[in-house]
Amino acid sequence: MTDHAFVAGGTSGINLAIARAYAERGWSVSVLSRSQDKVDAALATLGEGALGYAADVRDAEAVAAAIASAAEQHGPIDALVSGAAGNFVSPAADLSPNGFRTVVEIDLLGTFNVMRGAWDHLRKPGASIVNISAAQSWLPVPGQIHVGAAKAGIDQVTRTLAMEWGPEGVRVNSVAPGPVEGTEGMRRLAPTQAAVDAWTEAVPLRRFATTDDVVNAVTWLTSPESAYVTGVVLSVDGGLALGGSGMIHRAMHAE
Ligand code: HXC
Ligand code: NAP
Repeated sequence: MTDHAFVAGGTSGINLAIARAYAERGWSVSVLSRSQDKVDAALATLGEGALGYAADVRDAEAVAAAIASAAEQHGPIDALVSGAAGNFVSPAADLSPNGFRTVVEIDLLGTFNVMRGAWDHLRKPGASIVNISAAQSWLPVPGQIHVGAAKAGIDQVTRTLAMEWGPEGVRVNSVAPGPVEGTEGMRRLAPTQAAVDAWTEAVPLRRFATTDDVVNAVTWLTSPESAYVTGVVLSVDGGLALGGSGMIHRAMHAE
């Protein structure tokens, strides 16, 4: 039986690129997201045999049922990627409790539901889990109080499960991207060219990530090459989370 990758939120953007990378390597692939239309569109690009499930990661039962169905058809899961997320920019003073809750429930509770639902269906030992975090986990970004809280929570889920599931031979890591070009996330965070330029200036490597930059980190973390790596949060952010580097760079060069 071929290796099996299950990608939660794998129907657009970065997560779809991740799912596609496994498909291109000859793996069996399963994806899950809310919209049946997005699931169908993703499946059309993932090749024959890929499985898709329309479910909300906030619905633990639906997530567990989808994962069980995928494991029954494709076999136990070798690589589990949890990347479903919601984001919008809102100052805390304008954010309703439900707005805060919505993002925390999609990102953090959703990640728990995916991990929990998959536990009985992982190919242990050897299974590898990657949770998609973000630079906001380290960096307090104005307008992103909900996202920062959710992603920091995800990274603590990663570290805790690395402890609990390590003895079973299961690795658990996070990948924390900075700004990624051509994505829904950055359309929301940097909707104008001026905003894109300012974000770029804040990144020490002075460019946005490509989706391939993130894909490479995720596939490495689910490969034997990283066999002794667990419980890490791997920043793929061009140095952004080193903190205010753009501003400090300007300060150091001020005349
Ligand atoms: C303030 C907002 C808001 C906004 C929604 N809300 N949008 N508040 N500003 N722009 C509030 C609503 O008023 C409501 O609160 C609550 O949030 C729930 O809104 P719903 O629309 O009912 O939620 P839902 O249908 O579940 O949709 C979730 C969503 C939506 C997050 C709001 O945008 C979504 O589905 N996003 C998925 C796609 C996405 O965000 N992709 C980007 C991921 S990138 P009230 O109180 O009115 O009921 C990413 C990181 C990028 O995560 C990092 C870059 C470095
Ligand atoms: P995207 O294209 O909007 O992808 C989000 C995916 O999650 C979609 O497939 C969406 O499909 C699914 N999803 C959203 N809410 C869901 C829910 N409640 N249940 C199930 N699926 C749900 O976003 P992206 O920009 O590529 O971001 C992908 C990941 O990378 C996210 O975890 C994000 O936080 C992270 N990230 C992105 C950036 C960036 O620059 N874009 C930077 C750092 C981190 P449906 O709409 O069909 O549900």
